[in-house]
Amino acid sequence: WWENASPAAKDPITGVTEAFLADTNPHKINLGVGAYRDDEGKPIVLQCVRNAEAKIAGCEFLEANATEMASSLVEESVKLAYGEHARVLKEGRLAGLQALSGTGACRLFAELQRRFYPELPIYLPRPTWSNHHNVWRDAQVPQRTFQYYHPVSKGLNFAALVDDVKNAPDGSVFLLHPCAHNPTGVDPTEEQWRDISYLFKVKNHFPFFDMAYQGFASGDLDMDAQAIRIFLEDGHLIGCAQSFAKNMGLYGHRVGCVSVLCADAKQAVVVKSQMQQIARAMYGSPPVHGLLLVSTILSDPQTKSLWVKEVKVMANRIKRMRTALRENLEKLGSPLNWEHITNQVGMFCFSGLTPDHVDRLAREFHVYMTRDGRISMAGVTTSNVSYLADAIHEVTKH
Ligand code: LMR
Repeated sequence: WWENASPAAKDPITGVTEAFLADTNPHKINLGVGAYRDDEGKPIVLQCVRNAEAKIAGCEFLEANATEMASSLVEESVKLAYGEHARVLKEGRLAGLQALSGTGACRLFAELQRRFYPELPIYLPRPTWSNHHNVWRDAQVPQRTFQYYHPVSKGLNFAALVDDVKNAPDGSVFLLHPCAHNPTGVDPTEEQWRDISYLFKVKNHFPFFDMAYQGFASGDLDMDAQAIRIFLEDGHLIGCAQSFAKNMGLYGHRVGCVSVLCADAKQAVVVKSQMQQIARAMYGSPPVHGLLLVSTILSDPQTKSLWVKEVKVMANRIKRMRTALRENLEKLGSPLNWEHITNQVGMFCFSGLTPDHVDRLAREFHVYMTRDGRISMAGVTTSNVSYLADAIHEVTKH
């Protein structure tokens, strides 16, 4: 048995955590995984989560409640994505399901795509979250990429993106990051989103939004959903993955939502039943504790408004760390331009550091990040930012 199996490649993101944990140096810094950390470098338990925990503690959980709670989670999640008062909600056109965080939501959609459009590839931005490639590969969906990032400007290569969208066959499926693009931290402007939406309409492309960082780009949940709202206004049918791993600090709970905006309510019922069947065969049913937490937070106006404030606090801390890192590098007289640290948004800075730089940072300075030079800004703190800037300066100054 298993004689033909050879070791699988290490995951480029979780592998960083392993290397970090194995390092015993007290100055070590983990800038790998994009999960929020506070200014002490600790995973955060938000006050809204503590309140929700208190609310559900001791409350006997009836298995029978799970379906009801999951419906409330979906109802509240889709409001966050499509807008509190979106007409499509009242029209019942959304097929939504609780999912195992963003990864699970993507996988459910990928399976749905393969089931009904087996010939159609998924177009992924270049670059994108490494796991997107794994998810669609394992769902046996062919993959293509479209240009997104410009390595010189360290911003969006909008002209190339437009070309690739135009050149893809009509009716293609595209994955878009509506905010806080992972790994680049580069988002289109509102105007550019409008152009993209228009082009998608002309080409009859299907947009699938993976929204893993809602709130982290601007600090405002609605603002971060503006791309989805623009596509909605333009009358697209849409797919969307949502995760509460980062913006509620619930990474380990795997709570998310997948939704597909259908042509009418009848179609939504059909699509939902297909997704339910796919989920049932893959993992039976999702865990309930995180479900209880998230649905409690979202359905109680007071707890929800506390969460909205806490999202802003997290986003602002990251923004402050961007400024601090850039200023420290400039103060050191770095010969390089670091403007992109503050121009990019969300949890990540696509630093431009090369794999060699990254290896040296780990070896000589105990600073860990993915080899594409992505810095999870959540790992930067008031106390480590100057050490980090020194280390980056050391490896880049020649
Ligand atoms: C990341 O990109 O670091 C996050 O999305 C976390 C993960 O699971 O990969």
